[in-house]
Amino acid sequence: MEPKDRLKDLISHCKEYGFIFPSSEIYDGLAATYDYGQMGVELKNNIKTYWWKCMTQLNSHIVGIDSAIFMHPTTWKASGHVDAFNDPLIDNKDSKKRYRADVLLEEYLEKQNQKIQKEVEKGEKRFGDAFDMEQFLATNPNVLRTQEKINEVHHRMKKALNDSNLEDLRQLILDLEIVCPISGSKNWTEVRQFNLMFSTSLGSVAGESSTIYLRPETAQGIFVNFLNVQKSGRMKIPFGIAQIGKAFRNEIVARQFIFRMREFEQMEMQFFVKPGEELMWYEHWKEARKKWHLNLGMGEGNYRFHDHIKLAHYANAACDIEFNFPMGFKELEGIHSRTDFDLKQHEMHSGKKLQYFDPSTNESYVPYVIETSVGLDRLFLSVLTASYHEEKLEDGSERTVLKIPPALAPYKIAVLPLVKKDGLPEKAQEIIQMLRMNYTVQYDEKDSIGKRYRRQDAIGTPFAITVDHESLQNETVTIRHRDTMLQERIGIQTLTEYLQSHCSWSALLSKLH
Ligand code: GAP
Repeated sequence: MEPKDRLKDLISHCKEYGFIFPSSEIYDGLAATYDYGQMGVELKNNIKTYWWKCMTQLNSHIVGIDSAIFMHPTTWKASGHVDAFNDPLIDNKDSKKRYRADVLLEEYLEKQNQKIQKEVEKGEKRFGDAFDMEQFLATNPNVLRTQEKINEVHHRMKKALNDSNLEDLRQLILDLEIVCPISGSKNWTEVRQFNLMFSTSLGSVAGESSTIYLRPETAQGIFVNFLNVQKSGRMKIPFGIAQIGKAFRNEIVARQFIFRMREFEQMEMQFFVKPGEELMWYEHWKEARKKWHLNLGMGEGNYRFHDHIKLAHYANAACDIEFNFPMGFKELEGIHSRTDFDLKQHEMHSGKKLQYFDPSTNESYVPYVIETSVGLDRLFLSVLTASYHEEKLEDGSERTVLKIPPALAPYKIAVLPLVKKDGLPEKAQEIIQMLRMNYTVQYDEKDSIGKRYRRQDAIGTPFAITVDHESLQNETVTIRHRDTMLQERIGIQTLTEYLQSHCSWSALLSKLH
């Protein structure tokens, strides 16, 4: 299936089954904003819980906070967002479409990488078992030529971005003959910087209002509370503060469904360390975060690390964990070594000390920070991407199934009486009462059992329990597995234990350790 079609299929599936709706749809929607429906909110909350439990419950040296979206405007001056939170934008004069200049170049580089990949595949076919990847990459003339091009573009792009040289950035786009995907023309405007923060005004008395911003990241709420948490929680370095919350960015190129939105949610953790130990902790968190993603079982090949070409103004090391979305590999999570930049900036702008007193050395210092920052909506999209399957079945019929990791599924269990009479619905309700204290359960008695299974497959319910006449006689039910469609008969009294080992939080979390 073409990647574009795959994204389209996901979007329509999300709408049809109550995962995601376009925001204010009755007014034709609002670009790049979405509402989560009855299934979506359950999945989203479960993803949050997985992150929150792993950060705070499983790490005794990480605590959480929930800071306000509005912050004192000086926060954003100190953090550098007022002056430097810009995107370099370029317009195509024919299509009138606006693009991020760096994204156009990244896409060009991705195409070159795909060329190399194709050469490798050809080589593998030609040489079979004798294929030596290292030798092939080092000697194949087509690969070498493409790699040289990639290196050159990388170098020029990095320099232009680091120097904020917008003219050179534009020249690179012209030199590479990059065309607008809509008009197909190379008729580009100048590159301009555009600040991404939304602003509004605060103040009840006319004339006394001041400009405030909707936070573009949750991180600053953590930094300004660093000492509050450290002192009130008697935290010892190294320690972390985690937060989940909304962030807002006036994204100009907001496309690709919930991948890039103007209102979205972040799950961020700032880990405060002793200066000089930051790169060791940076490596630690790279590994820990990768493990966390892989624990969902969505395939190791769907993730890769990407080191940043241009380091943000605050970082001395940074990488992304990329996921293989329907649009290709794109950023899912950022891991940044932010040095002492933020705390020092806030010290300078507030005039307050933000230092840690180390009782073992009797010294005070401004800690360094490792940040892990993942977009909740992007994680949601990654789960959907990996889970969505259209399958042809042995009997010739088809099904669409979401193979969502069981602990994250909106509903864990569906309880289905085989028929709507003979006391089977009552027995089904008894089972629901037993399970609903611990799990989300759906009851469905309408249509044939096959149709009901399909409905549960489409929303990703991992287990369907069917109550039949035998259930009344011997207290057993059939339990059907979503992914294999296999059924087994088990005792009603063993259901709780069974589900505990298959779809509980502890089943998922214990795999991490
Ligand atoms: N505090 C650091 C920070 O905000 P970032 O790389 O700008 O770093 C972190 O953002 C994560 O937030 C990204 O990896 C992405 O998952 C998510 N994110 C950023 N902009 C987004 C947008 N417009 N829509 C959805 N998610 C976004």
